[in-house]
Amino acid sequence: MNSLNRDLKRLVKTVENCEGEKVKSDYWRLNFHLMPPVGWLNDPNGLCEFNGCYHIFYQYSPFDEKGGLKLWGQYITSDFINWKNKGAKVFADQPYDCHGAYSGSTIVHDSKMNIFYTGNVKHRGKYDYINSGRGHNTILLVSEDGENFTDKRLIMTNSDYPDNMTCHVRDPKVFKENDKFYMVLGARDKNDIGQVLVFESKDMINWENINVIKSEAKFGYMWECPDLFKIEEKTVLLISPQGIEADGFKYNNVYQSGYYFLEGDYKTKNYKLSNFEEIDRGFDFYAPQTFLDSKGRRLLIGWMGLPDIEDVYSNPTTEYGWQHALTVPRELKVVKNKLTQLPIDELKNLRKNCKNIKVEKSIEDKAYNTFDLVANIENCESLEIIIKDCACLNYKKQENLFTLSFIGGGYGRKDRSADLDSLKNLRVLCDTSSLEIFINDGEEVFTTRFYPTKDKEGIKVSGEYLNCNLHIYEMEAF
Ligand code: FRU
Repeated sequence: MNSLNRDLKRLVKTVENCEGEKVKSDYWRLNFHLMPPVGWLNDPNGLCEFNGCYHIFYQYSPFDEKGGLKLWGQYITSDFINWKNKGAKVFADQPYDCHGAYSGSTIVHDSKMNIFYTGNVKHRGKYDYINSGRGHNTILLVSEDGENFTDKRLIMTNSDYPDNMTCHVRDPKVFKENDKFYMVLGARDKNDIGQVLVFESKDMINWENINVIKSEAKFGYMWECPDLFKIEEKTVLLISPQGIEADGFKYNNVYQSGYYFLEGDYKTKNYKLSNFEEIDRGFDFYAPQTFLDSKGRRLLIGWMGLPDIEDVYSNPTTEYGWQHALTVPRELKVVKNKLTQLPIDELKNLRKNCKNIKVEKSIEDKAYNTFDLVANIENCESLEIIIKDCACLNYKKQENLFTLSFIGGGYGRKDRSADLDSLKNLRVLCDTSSLEIFINDGEEVFTTRFYPTKDKEGIKVSGEYLNCNLHIYEMEAF
């Protein structure tokens, strides 16, 4: 450990101690979501299972709730209920990562945790992203025990990426196939085309660029946080593209997250991408990452937030010195040629009291402050669920339309919709300041922050030709 690393660690602890109480006093701190202890959080990083525990890292900026120098924070759990907060773990303490330990992934190999991440370096002087101005270094950090990280090594730098790349190459996701390692990196080329670079290695130290994956027609200027994995015979390329114009109900956020099914071979030019599908339709979702656990589940966690939204909508938690959170872990499946997402089963262990209510016309119920609502719908021409007099979930069969909008507490968030042929079931995870809405067994998902005040409570459900069974479970805090 170098002295800068030690000083940074001490500084983070001091900030956490000084600011912690104020942050904790915020009514909108979440009950069952991972948040930054203080300051700012963005992407989930390095998700893995190692020696029987799940390790969830995240982009952490303890010094400023509006962003700033990025480090990696760490949470550890064995059951997704009892979490150990390990604070900041990966520091920006070298010349090759001095302006931020940016996003990356973890691969467990030979009983070691191998973290790959991007070391961000901003050069002084005129910034010209096409040719110079920024170092985007790929760094390997090895840990024997998953908690102490000392062995840092610079693996690749700008000159190791193809010549036609700009200074935007980042977010390595590493995986193993047969006896080789593969890395996908998000990139922006000099024609401003978003793409993914594929690298191959035998030893995780020496990497060769073997392929580039891009869409036939340009789809955005930059693809951030790529992930490539197999699930039920499908190969999925998950990306967070930037520079996509809104198209009706699609692509309404400042940046998007979604996936392609990739047919053929990602290692050669012999591949074909399907249509791009947005993975979440809500206001606050970006930069998801997945990993395979020992139960064989492909689990996904996203950032329950977005960059560059301040002018459109906001988060009042900044007044208390913190901002953003991670989504609950979600299990992915492929159903009818679509990726579906549902909260992992372990979350059911937080369920406490339960109310069962049958709805034909309308009901009002005090519900609970935080809850997991399951609605099984036999029949429905239309359905409206109002949560805490703030969020309104609306389905109209005639229009084949599902809409999430706000009557209050949206802080600038207005509405988001998705086409929906039928509504069979709904699951809503309502935390103090977030909603995750899973429609038809996770075929569509809407993730959003919202800020109902203490006096707002309960749910109102109404509809036409409705036959619906509600189960509302109170959710405990973890
Ligand atoms: C995505 C992202 C990544 C980058 C990280 C920096 O939100 O911009 O591309 O590595 O955040 O915090």
